[in-house]
Amino acid sequence: MLAYVLTRYGGPEGSALMEFPEPKLRPRDILVNVRAAGLNPVDIGFRQGKLRPIYRLKLPQVLGNEFAGEVLAVGDEVTRFSAGDRVFARTEKDRLGAFAEQAAVGEDCAAHMPSNMDFEEAAGVPLAALTALQALRGELGVKSGQRVFISGGAGGVGTFAIQIAKWLGAHVTTTASKRGEALVRSLGADEVIDYTSDDLSRFGKDFDAGFDLIGGETLDRMFKIMKPGTRIVSVAAVPEPQTARKDLGGRRILAVAFWAISYGVRQRARRAGVGYRFLFMHPSGSDLALLADLIEQGHLRVIIDKTYPFAKVAEALAYVETGRAKGKVVVIQQISSSRP
Ligand SMILES: NC(=O)c1ccc[n+]([C@@H]2O[C@H](COP(=O)([O-])OP(=O)(O)OC[C@H]3O[C@@H](n4cnc5c(N)ncnc54)[C@H](OP(=O)(O)O)[C@@H]3O)[C@@H](O)[C@H]2O)c1
Repeated sequence: MLAYVLTRYGGPEGSALMEFPEPKLRPRDILVNVRAAGLNPVDIGFRQGKLRPIYRLKLPQVLGNEFAGEVLAVGDEVTRFSAGDRVFARTEKDRLGAFAEQAAVGEDCAAHMPSNMDFEEAAGVPLAALTALQALRGELGVKSGQRVFISGGAGGVGTFAIQIAKWLGAHVTTTASKRGEALVRSLGADEVIDYTSDDLSRFGKDFDAGFDLIGGETLDRMFKIMKPGTRIVSVAAVPEPQTARKDLGGRRILAVAFWAISYGVRQRARRAGVGYRFLFMHPSGSDLALLADLIEQGHLRVIIDKTYPFAKVAEALAYVETGRAKGKVVVIQQISSSRP
């Protein structure tokens, strides 16, 4: 099959489209004919080798973290899917494989696609929407009437986060540039701060929950506008010891390393009287099924910024790497024309 394969960590030159063996089906796997795959900043991280201390990949490795397609075959122990089902999935994090004509994934990572979406739209949902759901509903426990601050509302995760926070009944304030303002408002943001000209100092300690998609100085400013005793969950700043305990299987060496690298951030959070948690999202078929329901009920939609043919996946990744995407970037399989 044709796949986009990482052979050497570093820049784009270490990955290429090539013929690669079809994935092997394990007893609890489904094998999927990939019709479209979503792109994410983490694809660049994998390509650069930044996640090597956490996930040990064996090169050559097919890249890609999320996809939508049709089930071709199921393993002996699979109970929820059969051949022909239309599914979407966030792959296991140490397995990847979405940028290919076929992908295998554990059935627990997949769900049936929302009936009102095509493959292109569905492929853009799993990773970003799961991240937003697990942060806002899971970690922060956002409740109706609360004031939520979301930094970076116009990107892949942010566009879902705004909608999920609104579904939970929150009042949403988000940051975006002029390029993203109309988009975030159309998704339900109640208040939009232009991050290029507004430093947040006009806010008091107003917010009940914070979801940070930017990190750095943005996170530091967020600490100052949270009510004392509230929490910020970041997916973009630095991991801290709970990340190792809760999200990465309790690996002690990682907990110690994360304790050290997050020391400054945790100090600043403590001085502000705010809790800080860095979340690594996890694949979840049940969370994905909830997202599919929300999509079918009209609470959630996907914003697709750009779609590329699968043969141009490197170009699509270069666009994601600019950090300017509004919503999601997707590659679609055109099996006959994608072969060089
Ligand atoms: N830990 C996890 O499990 C996890 C999961 C998913 C994502 N992430 C991380 O979360 C972050 C967001 O992911 P994503 O997929 O949403 O990224 P993305 O789609 O690449 O985000 C791009 C958007 O961010 C906006 N932006 C850039 N700088 C900004 C700033 N300083 N303030 C406000 N908005 C800004 C851009 O708007 P303009 O072009 O208008 O500037 C653009 O629309 C990334 O760092 C990603 O690696 C982590």
